[in-house]
Amino acid sequence: MAASIVKRVSRVKKLNVSHISARYKLLTGSRHFSTSKQWNKALVLGVYENESTDSIDFTGTARKFDEKADGKISQLLLTVKKPLKCGKTRTLHAVDPEFSSVLVTCIGKRGEGYDELETVDKGRESIRAAVAKAVLQLRELGENEIEVDSCGDTEASAEGCHLALFSYDDLKAKKSRKPAVRISCATRYSQDKNSMEKEWRKGAILAEGQNLSRRLMEMPANLLTPTKFAEIVKEQLADKCEVLVRDKDWAESMKMGSFLSVARGSVEPPVFLEIEYKGRQSDSPLALVGKGVTFDTGGISIKPSQGMDAMRGDMGGAACVAGSLLSVSKLQLPVHVKAFIPLCENMPSGSATKPGDVVTAMNGKTIQVDNTDAEGRLILADALCYSEQFNPSLILDMATLTGAIDVALGAGAAGVFTNSDDMWNKLQKASVRSGDRVWRMPLFNHYTKKITECQLADLNNIGGSRSGGACTAAAFLKEFVNNKNWLHLDIAGVMSNSGDVAYLGKGMSGRPTRTVIEFINLMSKETNN
Ligand code: BES
Ligand code: ZN
Ligand code: ZN
Repeated sequence: MAASIVKRVSRVKKLNVSHISARYKLLTGSRHFSTSKQWNKALVLGVYENESTDSIDFTGTARKFDEKADGKISQLLLTVKKPLKCGKTRTLHAVDPEFSSVLVTCIGKRGEGYDELETVDKGRESIRAAVAKAVLQLRELGENEIEVDSCGDTEASAEGCHLALFSYDDLKAKKSRKPAVRISCATRYSQDKNSMEKEWRKGAILAEGQNLSRRLMEMPANLLTPTKFAEIVKEQLADKCEVLVRDKDWAESMKMGSFLSVARGSVEPPVFLEIEYKGRQSDSPLALVGKGVTFDTGGISIKPSQGMDAMRGDMGGAACVAGSLLSVSKLQLPVHVKAFIPLCENMPSGSATKPGDVVTAMNGKTIQVDNTDAEGRLILADALCYSEQFNPSLILDMATLTGAIDVALGAGAAGVFTNSDDMWNKLQKASVRSGDRVWRMPLFNHYTKKITECQLADLNNIGGSRSGGACTAAAFLKEFVNNKNWLHLDIAGVMSNSGDVAYLGKGMSGRPTRTVIEFINLMSKETNN
């Protein structure tokens, strides 16, 4: 298999939108390094945590490398009395003629697996974090071709490397950007190279999907308008999916008054994306819906200016839908998926919706908009109604919907509201594998009452008090869904990473893209999707 590549392109002089677009294409397309490039090769090897001061507990691959190097690696490691602890590394030089650096990284205790309280596979998480740290340290040393130990879980190892090496520095001067690194799996001592390469590729594709989500979320809102988002998604997905770009007139003809009430404050035209991936024939696709507010000022109920820049990531749900579809289509999963993405800006202006205005959604329900900053639920209401027209076997929506979910769960997990125990069990199972966790939240009538008590209309877009804000938002969405398998993921708390996830750098996280891909993978094994 071709080695995985982190790409580099030369700086463009003027950062106007068309330049960015051309460059984006290069950055995300597959590109090969020139053969004249000077390679500095390095190797990452895994060891298990071990109390002994006179033996090293190597992974299978690492043991073979040590044997080949006449035990030099173990000798050097044992010259230091303190054994390596999980997450710690040692860098060795001049131990092998092929590699200028050999970095040994500790992947935790042998045999670690599912941890019930943590609801995560600790073994896989430790591998992701350990190889992530390793490749970043080697990049700092100027190494640009790195062979990585599968550490007993090739997919997790590939995910860790590819996620760690992501950086969004496209808009910086060349000298300030991270150097290119080529990574591959150390397969030379494997019994079954083919299956190892296959697993590595799967891990790389999972990471690639999440990295697309991160890139879209990180892009500044002046460059990533609704129109631009649609263009990039077309570039990225058009060869494997059908991408329909609907305009404002179309939304009007569909009577999407709720969606359009948010878009009307901005000069940027709204876009409604409809994407189809047909990895198998079926009349009941999986429906994905993503909140695509490319910038959320709050509208007339304007937000405080501090930290408002983060609201460029308010299209995180849309980005995760796009990232998931990229991976699902690259993995050629045998599944039928339809995605629905309402895109707009939430701006204050003379034409913006005002608190107290009443709008009508596609299903005929009227909504009193008491707070224009609760706009996500307004655009999702119409997208959810529309998605129901396609007889989906399930509807999964993702949205950076409420600050309240951040208060409740922080970056520990995405909040999940679902009417199906079965769907919940499957999503949680997927998250244990991905390490990107979910936590179930209630859909009680208690919360529905808060949004149906409304002076002028059928529904109010806010709950009247701040209490249970994520739950009243979910209860609002529930009014627009009839499907028996509905999942709403409030991802506002996991929108960005400030160091909590060791293998993701600081910035927009792209979470929970890999959980959703894994969930779709599980669903593809069921009949009739
Ligand atoms: N986009 C925000 C939610 C958000 C907050 C996303 C923090 C990411 C990080 C959403 O549109 C919003 O403003 N929600 C309001 C709802 C309130 C007015 C009922 C909120 O959470 O404060
Ligand atoms: Zn808002
Ligand atoms: Zn918002």
